[in-house]
Amino acid sequence: MAIKIKDDIYWIGTIDWEIREFHGYGTPNGSTYNSYLIKDEKNVLIDCAKEYMFEELLIGLKSAKINPEDIDYIVINHSEKDHSGCLEKLIKYTNATIITNEKCKELLELQYNTDGWEYIIVDNNPEINIGKRTLKFIKTPMLHWPDNMVTYSIEDKILFSNDAFGQHVATSERFDYQVEELEVLYDDTKEYFANILLPYRMLVPGAIEALKNLDIEYICPSHGVIWKDHIKDIMEKYLEWSSDEYKNKAVIVYDSMYNSTKKIAYNIGNGLLKGGVEVRIYNTSKTPMNKIMKDILDAKYVLVGSPTLNSNIYHTVAMFLAYMEGLKPSGDKIGVAFGSYGWMEMATGIIKKTFEKLNFKIIEDECLTCRFVPKEEYLSKCYEFGKKLAQMD
Ligand code: FEO
Repeated sequence: MAIKIKDDIYWIGTIDWEIREFHGYGTPNGSTYNSYLIKDEKNVLIDCAKEYMFEELLIGLKSAKINPEDIDYIVINHSEKDHSGCLEKLIKYTNATIITNEKCKELLELQYNTDGWEYIIVDNNPEINIGKRTLKFIKTPMLHWPDNMVTYSIEDKILFSNDAFGQHVATSERFDYQVEELEVLYDDTKEYFANILLPYRMLVPGAIEALKNLDIEYICPSHGVIWKDHIKDIMEKYLEWSSDEYKNKAVIVYDSMYNSTKKIAYNIGNGLLKGGVEVRIYNTSKTPMNKIMKDILDAKYVLVGSPTLNSNIYHTVAMFLAYMEGLKPSGDKIGVAFGSYGWMEMATGIIKKTFEKLNFKIIEDECLTCRFVPKEEYLSKCYEFGKKLAQMD
C-alpha cells in the first residue's frame, strides 16, 4: 500500500514476507523491494521489484491512485533482478521511458527481452526536469554492481539510494523513527553492508563525500526502512564499516562430527575470553553465513575449525570459506586454523589457503590439530593458546 513521504511522493514498495534466502544471504526476516512514485508533470516510478512481486507492485500503484499507463518514466538505478524483475511485465502496461545509465542499459539487455524499450541515458546529462522538480543522477559504481546510481530529487531533498543504506528485513515500519529498537536497525544495516557492499568498501568514503554535498532530508533505499531522523548517523556508520578498523573481537567458526573440533573451538574461545577478548562462536551447520560475516567485518581474530572428512575439509566449513573469500574482509586480521582428524590431517591446510588469499596473519600452535578426541590435558593447551592469542598484535 502506498505510504506518503512528501506531497506527491510515495513509497509503493513490495514486502517479501516469505523470502528466506537471497543469493546465499539468509533472510529469516524477509525483505522489501522499495519502489517510489513521484507525481509531477511527468510521473516517475523509481525502481521496481522481483518478477513475482508484480501484482503487489500494481496494488501499490493503484493505492497511490495512478494507472500504470500514466507512468512516464521508470528510473532504474541498478539492473539486478530484485529491482528490475518486473520490468518486462510493467513496460507492457505502460508507455514509459526508462531513465538509466549506459552500463545499466547494457546489463538490462543481457537479462531481458528489451525489444522496443526506450531509454533516456543520463551519463552525460545527469539532470532531468519532470515539472516542479529536477531529478539528479549520481553514479555509484560497484555499490553494488558496475551499473549502480542514485537519484536525488533536488527540490524535495530526497535521495533514492537503491542498495546503499538498505536492510533485508520485512517490516510494516517504513521510517527509521518508527523502529523501536534503533540498535537492531543498525545491526540489520551492518549485516547488509557486510554481505552486499563489503568487497567494494573502498569506494564508500568517496560516495559518502559526494552525498555530503547534497542537502538530504530523506534517504530512501530500495530495501528496508527509509532514513529520516538518523541520516548523519547511518552515513557515519557506513564510513566506520568501510574503514577496516577492528575491535578486540574474535569470531570462531567451526563444524564438528563428534564434538572434537567443537571442544577445541570452545576451549580456545574460553582462553580468549579470559584474555579480555569479545568472543563469538558459530557452527557453520547452524548459523547463516551472513550472520557470521556481520561479526567478521570488524573482528581482529578469525578462527576457523574443521574436522578432516574423507581427506578433505568438512563441507559446511568449505562453503563458509568460499563465501568469506568472495566478500574479501580486511586482510588486517589474525587467522587461526584448527581441527581434528583420524589418520590424515587435511582440513587446516585448506583453511590456511583461504587465509593466505585474504592476507590474514596466520598463527600456528601445536594444539591446533588433534587426532581423534582431545583429552583434558590437550584442552588445557587450547585454553592457554587462547589466552596467549588474546595478547597478540
Ligand atoms: Fe538490491 Fe544489488 O540489488
